[in-house]
Amino acid sequence: MSKLKLGVLISGRGSNLQALIDACAAPGFPAEIALVLSNKADAFGLERASGAGIATTVVDHRDYPGNKPAFEAAMDAALREAGVQLVCLAGFMRLLSPWFVGQWHNALINIHPSLLPSFKGLDTHERALAAGVRFHGCTVHYVRPEMDEGPIIAQAAVPVLPGDDGHSLADRVLLSEHRLYPHAVRLIAEGRARVDGDLVRIDGPVPDLAALVNPPLNPPL
Ligand code: GRF
Repeated sequence: MSKLKLGVLISGRGSNLQALIDACAAPGFPAEIALVLSNKADAFGLERASGAGIATTVVDHRDYPGNKPAFEAAMDAALREAGVQLVCLAGFMRLLSPWFVGQWHNALINIHPSLLPSFKGLDTHERALAAGVRFHGCTVHYVRPEMDEGPIIAQAAVPVLPGDDGHSLADRVLLSEHRLYPHAVRLIAEGRARVDGDLVRIDGPVPDLAALVNPPLNPPL
C-alpha cells in the first residue's frame, strides 16, 4: 500500500507535528511525512523531525525581504522536490498568499484552536472564555485564501470548565488537537474526505462523537 506523502509546515514547538510523527510511526497508518519545513531555523519542531529521521528544510521568510512570491516559490519547490502530496500546516505562523493556496488546492490543510467558524485568528482561548462559550475546541480544515476559512474536515469539542483560564483551556484543547490532526489526515489518506463545494463529505463510518470530546462525556449527562 503506498502511503500519502505529507509535508508539515511549522514555525515553533511542533507538538502537532509530533502527534503526526507518532501517528505515522504506527503500522498501517496510511500517510508518511516526506518533509518538515520551517520558516524559522530555531523551531523546536525541527529537532523533533530530525530525531525521528525525517527530512527537514528551512525556508526563512527573512531571506526574502519584501518578496513573498519568492519565499513561497521556494517553499513550493521544496515540497514538490520531496514528492509531497498533502501539506499540513501545524503552527505555521505566516499567512499564505492566494497563489500558494491555489497551488495546493484541496491538498493543504490547517489545524486551528477553535470550533470554526467561531474565533478565527489569534488568542482563541482567551476570546472563547470572554465570550462565555460552554464548548471550545479545535478544527482541521482545508485552506482557502481567507484566514482560517475553508471546508471543515474534523472538529473536536472541549468543554469549558469552571475556573478555566486561557492556559488550562489551551492545554486541554491541545490534547484534542493531537488526536484530531492524525484522524483528519487518515480520513484524507484513505480517500474518505471528499470536498463538495464548501463542505467536506465523509465516506464510511464516522468516529464515535464522544471520542472527539475531551474530557469524554462519559457517563452521559
Ligand atoms: C496549535 O495550537 C495550532 O492549533 C495552532 O498553532 C499551535 C501550534 O502548536 N495553529 P504546535 O507548534 O503544534 O505545538
